[in-house]
Amino acid sequence: RDPPMDLTKSCLVISMSLAFTVQAETLTRDNGAPVGDNQNSITAGSNGSVLLQDVQLIQKLQRFARERIPERVVHARGTGVHGEFISSGDFGELTQAAPFAKKNKVTPVFVRFSTVVHSKGSPETLRDPRGFATRFYSEQGNWDLVGNNLPVFFIRDAIKFPDMVHSLKPSPVTNKQDPNRFFDFFSHEATATNMLTWVYTNLGTPSSYRKMDGWGVHAYKFINDENRVKYVKFHWVSQQGVEGLRPNEVTKIQGQNFNHLTDDLYSQIDQGNFPKWDLKVKVISPEDLNKFDYNPLDATKMWLDVPETKVGTMTLNRVPDNFFQETEQAAFAPSNLIPGIEPSEDRLLQGRIFSYADTQLYRLGANLSQLPINQAKANVANHNQEGAANFGNTRSDVNYQPSVNLDLAEDARYRSVNTPLSGTVQQAAIPKQDNFTQAGILYRSLSKQDRSDLITNLSGDLGKVRDSNVKHQMLSYFYQADKDFGERLTKAVNGDLSEVKKRIKS
Ligand code: HEM
Repeated sequence: RDPPMDLTKSCLVISMSLAFTVQAETLTRDNGAPVGDNQNSITAGSNGSVLLQDVQLIQKLQRFARERIPERVVHARGTGVHGEFISSGDFGELTQAAPFAKKNKVTPVFVRFSTVVHSKGSPETLRDPRGFATRFYSEQGNWDLVGNNLPVFFIRDAIKFPDMVHSLKPSPVTNKQDPNRFFDFFSHEATATNMLTWVYTNLGTPSSYRKMDGWGVHAYKFINDENRVKYVKFHWVSQQGVEGLRPNEVTKIQGQNFNHLTDDLYSQIDQGNFPKWDLKVKVISPEDLNKFDYNPLDATKMWLDVPETKVGTMTLNRVPDNFFQETEQAAFAPSNLIPGIEPSEDRLLQGRIFSYADTQLYRLGANLSQLPINQAKANVANHNQEGAANFGNTRSDVNYQPSVNLDLAEDARYRSVNTPLSGTVQQAAIPKQDNFTQAGILYRSLSKQDRSDLITNLSGDLGKVRDSNVKHQMLSYFYQADKDFGERLTKAVNGDLSEVKKRIKS
């Protein structure tokens, strides 16, 4: 907003009652009018009440009372950073997506790292997957790659997400997170075995946001300009390496500094030590989808046996000027896709495609994409209009289609691809669930120390579970992933191995 003209041309010298003098611009109300006194309310005489005509007092109190917007229902605590992505080649053969169009092409990005379960002011030391959301501001529109620091997820169907999150969030009765509640839920969800194993490694408590990989988790589709489809998974590989805090380090750091992740990231960037990640992709042809022991469109699985190719590097180099305007108002959504990238049929991803844009309409309002951090760098031209806090996108009075006077037209090159279908409309879990193999592979891949930290971390929470059925059911899942894993964990939580084995279906 422009400041009041004649008053700001000359700076006023304001003498405060304190013992210093500052050169200052004139303070104004929201309508731009200068404020005469910002320290004393208008009263009726020296002993009388405060007057309703004190617009400055009322405006200050009103604006203050409206400073908060709803925090994100998950991933409420986050840290944002600006940067750039540079493509390492011309990947037009794979995808028409703009950021990959030619070698050394630069695309601005904004990244938000986050914890998941706890509220906006919670400690960054708490065990959680970490969000790793990246927005590419491309000339074909904003593309949001909304991933985590772990390669898989707990569930494979979005219909289970609200229940899972309710169990993980603080109890509606006590407002405390309770392992009795979330392990009750997970004891019915063998699907979560792989992700729980990842979360309870030391990667569930990263030492630094710079020292985390990022994973897209789902399969997406890459489409080239001949409409050829490939399934693809994304992986950010940290050039700083990957490092988690050991159990004793978590307790120590939490006692000293519960913003250790933000402090580390911002101080390193301020010192010019810019963190970098290589973006790698794994690619599968549609005709190969059925060739695996698992379903490649299942978000609880990694594509372990598929090679990775580097497609670019991201550098994060600028801390936002304003936390609320940028980090808090950023609205990342898996539905923000651009030509050349489409969602796969992964049913968890399909739920996310709806859920983010939906919650953001509630959290930020109908015109959230007009907020500077969410504005596309590409031209936005459509007939979406009006709504609260709209500051202008009217082109003409032809705000409908078709019309003889229409000056906007769709472009058939960007039609969604055809996908073959078979079967009936149905409600059933996927075949080829295999909930345990990859959790076992992960366990066996860990160093001796990391395995023993995993047992310490997991038994710490599982040991709090009072219901013997829940406890033994959970133990049976980890036992099925790996016998040694299950036995050590059972011992650590004073479980009964025969009870564990009883629960294993042959
Ligand atoms: C944030 C829903 C699974 C990563 C959110 C938000 C919702 C949500 C409602 C808040 C968005 C906002 O207010 O701006 C869901 C649902 C899921 C799901 C329904 C499953 C069906 C996942 C998965 C990942 C993920 C699998 C990782 C691959 C994130 C991240 C954020 C987020 C990183 C924070 C984005 C930011 O920094 O603003 N999720 N989520 N979510 N979710 Fe999910």
